[in-house]
Amino acid sequence: MENIKGKVVVITGASSGFGKITAEYLSEKGAVVALGARSTDKIEKLAKEINDKGGKAIAVTTDVTDKDQVKKLVDKAVSEFGKIDVLLNNAGIMPLSPLEYLKIDDWDSCIDINIKGVLYGIAAALPHMKERKSGQILSVASVAGHTINPGGAVYSATKYSVRVISEALRKEVKPYNIRTGVISPGAVDTGLPDSVTADDVAENIKKFYSENAISADSFAHAVAYMISQPEDVDINEVLYRPTKQKL
Ligand SMILES: NC(=O)c1ccc[n+]([C@@H]2O[C@H](COP(=O)([O-])OP(=O)(O)OC[C@H]3O[C@@H](n4cnc5c(N)ncnc54)[C@H](OP(=O)(O)O)[C@@H]3O)[C@@H](O)[C@H]2O)c1
Repeated sequence: MENIKGKVVVITGASSGFGKITAEYLSEKGAVVALGARSTDKIEKLAKEINDKGGKAIAVTTDVTDKDQVKKLVDKAVSEFGKIDVLLNNAGIMPLSPLEYLKIDDWDSCIDINIKGVLYGIAAALPHMKERKSGQILSVASVAGHTINPGGAVYSATKYSVRVISEALRKEVKPYNIRTGVISPGAVDTGLPDSVTADDVAENIKKFYSENAISADSFAHAVAYMISQPEDVDINEVLYRPTKQKL
């Protein structure tokens, strides 16, 4: 865990779930964190808690569907702390539903947040990382980015896309010594099932999560493992599930 101390980590979707627990865990290990999400009150409270405990954190209200706001988050981290070592493209939603429900607004938000949000993160961080010839861009995919089930067409499409984008990026940024990785979790206990808007699907997903989901600590540990590697080791993918999850 030595390699975590002093690293500046920018986290999108830091107001709850994976983003929040990872910010807390990494700051306990000595990382400096820049927190982005739309819920200003939640990220400001989290930043205060981290700072009160002796860590270093800033909060910047960020909607990842707005490229200017994502750039502002990354630029603020660089101006405040002098660099960015890690970008964690974590913000995401999972509005599962069969295509025949025609939840077109859900499709749009899922693509805008889960794919374009990741691209905007890359656009914001890359110039800084290229200049320093150092950095790590981690993006959150899913088991649903490795397997497709009914109701998951659009969500899975976004998570497969995250893997595609990250792998292309990996090959493109070799000249700049930048590392890229994807974390693909299975069912983990966060607020994610609340983003399902179809009532019958939401009921099934909540049942599935209550029977299968494991603690969000698992995600923070995976990120810490990836970040703590020596600079010549590039962990490109971590795929994990609850032991009892069949899908
Ligand atoms: N939990 C799981 O089982 C699981 C499994 C596989 C993959 N994932 C992925 O893990 C990531 C994090 O989800 P989670 O499980 O931690 O769920 P969560 O508790 O619902 O957290 C989602 C986070 O994303 C943020 N967010 C949503 N829309 C945003 C936007 N437009 N701009 C900025 N932030 C936005 C939310 O903050 P605001 O609402 O404050 O903006 C929140 O902080 C997602 O990409 C998800 O697809 C989760």
